[in-house]
Amino acid sequence: MIGGAFARAFEDYGELPHASQVVVVTNHVVAQLYVVQLVAALKARYQVVHIVKLPDGEEHKNWQTLNLIFDALLKHGCDRKTVLFALGGGVIGDMTGFAAACYMRGVPFVQVPTTLLAQVDSSVGGKTGINHPLGKNMIGAFYQPRLVVCDLATLDTLPERELSAGLAEVIKYGPIADMEFMAWQEASMDALRARDRTALAHAVRRSCEIKAWVVGQDERESGLRAILNFGHTFGHAIEAGMGYGVWLHGEAVGAGMVMAAELSLRMGLVDEKFVLRLRNLIQRAGLPVKAPVLDPSDNAGRYLELMRVDKKAESGEIRFVLIDGPGKAVLRSAPDALVREVIDACW
Ligand code: NAD
Ligand code: GLY
Repeated sequence: MIGGAFARAFEDYGELPHASQVVVVTNHVVAQLYVVQLVAALKARYQVVHIVKLPDGEEHKNWQTLNLIFDALLKHGCDRKTVLFALGGGVIGDMTGFAAACYMRGVPFVQVPTTLLAQVDSSVGGKTGINHPLGKNMIGAFYQPRLVVCDLATLDTLPERELSAGLAEVIKYGPIADMEFMAWQEASMDALRARDRTALAHAVRRSCEIKAWVVGQDERESGLRAILNFGHTFGHAIEAGMGYGVWLHGEAVGAGMVMAAELSLRMGLVDEKFVLRLRNLIQRAGLPVKAPVLDPSDNAGRYLELMRVDKKAESGEIRFVLIDGPGKAVLRSAPDALVREVIDACW
């Protein structure tokens, strides 16, 4: 939906849950930009609208911040019918969804994503949760939103760095599922970075179609869904190793996709031309293609240690999403020696 979506969405969508009160969960930055519009739209449907403002940033995606949501819900006497609205990026969406999954064992929630990353990925598919100092997104639940209301106009205020971070999750869909989409991105990267509405609309629509196709077959990630984590095994190690919020999630995924492509090359699954092509696209999106050093004394060892905490790991064996020929992904383990080679080659 483009422009003024909040008002229109809440007039049009009959399926919005009934409730006497609702709670908008957001952060201080997004609240200043959009909370007035959202609350005005909600007031046309709901008697009482509360607002909870959380601190902004990945470093606050934790138990302490989550508790602020529960404190507010209890303070306002919210019941099982209370609807939570997540207004913000992936951090707000993941935490609000998790709070909705837990409060009174489950209340309805609606995603109102305001970053590109949240519009193309995190608001769709029902993964919710928080970080632990030892591992990214390690505590959470699968819990689907009742509705996702996406207004491209909110992307106008997104800082450049955050737009690039969102493009990382758009880029990932090409190598894992749709090389035509990758070719379209190569032709459209300048338009995307210039926030051309038509280009952004196509990027959001196609990304959500691919994600829905994958999640529709494997909602709880017993197999296929893991391909959506292309670049994330290395990326999550970067985020946890640097300290949450130092590298943005999308930046870590950008460098992580280069590393996963390099590993695919070393495993004999793709050729060098493909790796260069992907690396070039990631670079053109304004994302890092070199990985940070996490430990100067044993960098590869530190990466390996952090990656063993990944949710895809089984009995301590790391499993990577690799590209098995352009447009197709597989989940595989890899010899530590090859992984070390990739880490040593990527910074
Ligand atoms: P974010 O939520 O931290 O938002 C990025 C920044 O942009 C924040 O400072 C935010 O306040 C600000 N912002 C949000 N909307 C804005 C707007 N319209 N204008 C100006 N500023 C705005 O980060 P993100 O990139 O949206 O999300 C990253 C998170 O999403 C990570 O925690 C990641 O793990 C998670 N994620 C979850 C899934 C999933 O399936 N649940 C998928 C991918 C990523
Ligand atoms: N972002 C990965 C997933 O939703 O599975």
